[in-house]
Amino acid sequence: MKPCSFSLLPVLLLFLVPVLAAGPGCASCDPTQCAPLPSDGCPAGSLQDSCGCCAVCAAAEGEPCGGRRATARRCGTGLECVKSDDDKKSKSGVCACKNNYEVCGTDGTTYKNGCALKSASLTAQKEGKEAISVLNKGRCASAPVIVTPPGQVYNVSGSQVYLSCEAVGVPTPVLTWRKVLGGKRKAALLPGDRDNLAIQTRGGPEKHQVTGWVLISPLTEEEDGSYECHAFNSKGEASAIGEIHLVESIDEIKTGLKEDEL
Ligand SMILES: *[C@@H]1O[C@H](CO)[C@@H](O)[C@H](O)[C@H]1NC(C)=O
Repeated sequence: MKPCSFSLLPVLLLFLVPVLAAGPGCASCDPTQCAPLPSDGCPAGSLQDSCGCCAVCAAAEGEPCGGRRATARRCGTGLECVKSDDDKKSKSGVCACKNNYEVCGTDGTTYKNGCALKSASLTAQKEGKEAISVLNKGRCASAPVIVTPPGQVYNVSGSQVYLSCEAVGVPTPVLTWRKVLGGKRKAALLPGDRDNLAIQTRGGPEKHQVTGWVLISPLTEEEDGSYECHAFNSKGEASAIGEIHLVESIDEIKTGLKEDEL
């Protein structure tokens, strides 16, 4: 018995279909001649080549795409081939993400766009992990972090001083200041009723960041002490303490600064 001769006919037919479907410039399709896909997978997934013959890696974000028929490269899903005016003649371009905004993945990581998430998801699946999908547009929610805590300030009575504090979080944190009181007294929310003390807050300098100041003028003995910068949002809170020191003379300021530098 020769089973091979019987099974050869349907195989031959399978080979013929792509040949017939292939466009101009495409050689006849012999799938056995197809280069294997990289063993570690394709970062932007795989698709049929432009002749409809072999499975090839799709062009990933930032990679060249387009080109003439047989050699044309196509971008992966979620990507589009962007051609500049110069490129239009050669018909080639660069793959760019269709939706170019940050997204939060179900893995709790923020991706710069949907394509980066898709790529990470393919990698995860390859490693036997769960696929990653979009949890929400924009960054993942995160508890505040104080990126620049208020420092130490030394100055004389009657001078003008300030403490500043920078916090980051998603949603953007709300910043408040408290004067830390000694003993059993609770910290007092600022500004209170003091006419020589102001609180200022503005967004930035980075996205989801907020910067706040305690401004004091003129400085009196009353303001000497510790100040707590407190940041909170729906995910949590953070705080840091700075100090204002009232000193007798300018000379002490210099000493104070030296201590800071050491
Ligand atoms: C100390 O006070 C002077 C006068 O108000 C002000 O110009 C200076 O910036 C202050 N120094 C510090 C370190 O706050």
